[in-house]
Amino acid sequence: MNKIGVGYASVTPLEKKYVNEALDSDRLSPSRYVHQFERSFSAKHNKRYGVMCNSGTSAIHIALEALKEIDGWDEGTEVLVPALTFISSSNAVLHAGLKPVFVDVDPMTYNMDPRQIGQHITGKARCILPVHAFGLPCEMDLIAVIAQKNKLRIVEDCSDAHFALYKGRTVGSWGDLSAFSTYVAHTIMTGIGGIAITDGEHCAEILRSLIAHGRSCTCEVCTASDPNQVCRKRSDNEMDRRFLFERMGYSYRVGELEGALGCAQLERAGEIMSARRRNAGRLTELLSPLQDVLQLPIYGSDYGHTFMMYPILIKSGKFTRKELTDFLEMKNIETRPMFPLLNQPIYRKMYGDIEKHYPNAAMIARNGFYVGCHHGLDEEEMAYIAATVKDAVEGFMR
Ligand SMILES: Cc1ncc(COP(=O)(O)O)c(C=O)c1O
Repeated sequence: MNKIGVGYASVTPLEKKYVNEALDSDRLSPSRYVHQFERSFSAKHNKRYGVMCNSGTSAIHIALEALKEIDGWDEGTEVLVPALTFISSSNAVLHAGLKPVFVDVDPMTYNMDPRQIGQHITGKARCILPVHAFGLPCEMDLIAVIAQKNKLRIVEDCSDAHFALYKGRTVGSWGDLSAFSTYVAHTIMTGIGGIAITDGEHCAEILRSLIAHGRSCTCEVCTASDPNQVCRKRSDNEMDRRFLFERMGYSYRVGELEGALGCAQLERAGEIMSARRRNAGRLTELLSPLQDVLQLPIYGSDYGHTFMMYPILIKSGKFTRKELTDFLEMKNIETRPMFPLLNQPIYRKMYGDIEKHYPNAAMIARNGFYVGCHHGLDEEEMAYIAATVKDAVEGFMR
């Protein structure tokens, strides 16, 4: 049996058709497909604008930079982030010259615990960055109330929870801005890539400028550098606005190949999502006899989980994560630890031993791991994962 991986990049004839059309179009810089992906992705989240860029990290970074410019935040302004997430959520805060302030997570959902946010809000806080972990949305209604009461902006990191629902509303539709990664293992993937969405026209213009070196005009004609079209504004200035730079920007663009992949994946989103839900549901059913020993993803009817992966937390002290994951890996089942953050060497160097102040995050970072439940896997593979986990746990508990 091939290794059962945690992630999957599915490329069907539809992705190939669109990519080939992009290649044949003789225009690889962002144009038709990128703009179509941006429009369609943002519309699906009830947002007016989407800006595609080269990674989820870049999407969070430019979202924060845009708010920093619009609201006039100082360097070191505080952004509240979960104490358990993939490191790039909090790295992006640092890239923007801001200060991450960590908030412990809920031990059941693994998401930022809204009940613990208040104690971390200081006079320097301006933004909350909730991360919807492993496909499960944060309690966004509570977070939105806290943000409103304390005049804080919200930037959602939806990288791991494309199209997940909370109380009937898609993640990414709550924030002032929201960011998504479309890197290969993600539910909607474009190879490399990311997208930031917003309702603000001015904000979207800043985002477009930031991904293109801080350029002045970011209209679709200038972005595509199409020699057959002329931007209306190009001649209202002595200098062509494509070569006028208004702010410190970055080179965060993607091209038509990523846009083409994204458009195809969006058309297949329903099919991708339902296969993941079906696989995860099957795993939960098969593993439920082990619930005294393993915490499985259990969530209420307010949540529409999209299972970018299948998280498992070891509750028993009779065996370690390493013992269980070594066994699974030996049996050809790939595993990953559940996003240890505060004990990463770089964060220990920067912040010292702060993990002890975040007991839930520390416990999950020590005992949590995930396996794959993606749309490239089937019923037989779910049964194999469940039987192997059962085998291992029964052996350890004997
Ligand atoms: C929660 C979260 N945020 C951000 C990212 C960063 O995405 P990228 O690798 O596209 O920069 C990831 C990557 O997997 C992630 O899991």
